Amino acid sequence: MARFAGLVPVDGRVLDLACGGGRHTRFFLERHHPLTAIDIDLAGIADLAGRSDLESIAADLESGDAWPLADRRFAGIVVTNYLHRPLLPAIVAAVAPGGALIYETFAVGNERFGRPSNPDFLLRPGELIDAVRGRLEIVAYENLEVAEPKPAMVQRIAAIDRN
Ligand SMILES: C[S@@+](CC[C@H](N)C(=O)[O-])C[C@H]1O[C@@H](n2cnc3c(N)ncnc32)[C@H](O)[C@@H]1O
Repeated sequence: MARFAGLVPVDGRVLDLACGGGRHTRFFLERHHPLTAIDIDLAGIADLAGRSDLESIAADLESGDAWPLADRRFAGIVVTNYLHRPLLPAIVAAVAPGGALIYETFAVGNERFGRPSNPDFLLRPGELIDAVRGRLEIVAYENLEVAEPKPAMVQRIAAIDRN
């Protein structure tokens, strides 16, 4: 995240999707980006409530209801350790012209290391490339085994909208 955060235009709004404890929400707020954080459970960022530069949205992204962000576009979208496959087109479409997507989560092969092991939560080889194809330009992509913070198979992409 630190390596590719500079792809997000200065002062541009960042969407942290499935923000959890807000480690990337905090990271981008510190970089002076206005932030939209969304999660089914906002308890992890409760300490940030009231900040004028933070919009917090509690939503079940897997309910089958409409995408909760309507036609909004974001200068940066970050997603880590979360996958609900049906959302991928909406996430990619929500990158603003000139904006960036930084996405990393577990990939097929992670079953060897433990959870997540459900294929619904594991990216297939090349899946993030397929998700951005024709819409975003890939700056970096990896599908590999990592040792830290624990052994895992992960896939990650940084991609930008050149428009
Ligand atoms: C493993 S955590 C990742 C948190 C954060 N992105 C990170 O990497 O530190 C997964 C997050 O997905 C959220 N989540 C799970 N199911 C969800 C749903 N149906 N709608 C919205 N958020 C959901 C959880 O609440 C949790 O915060």
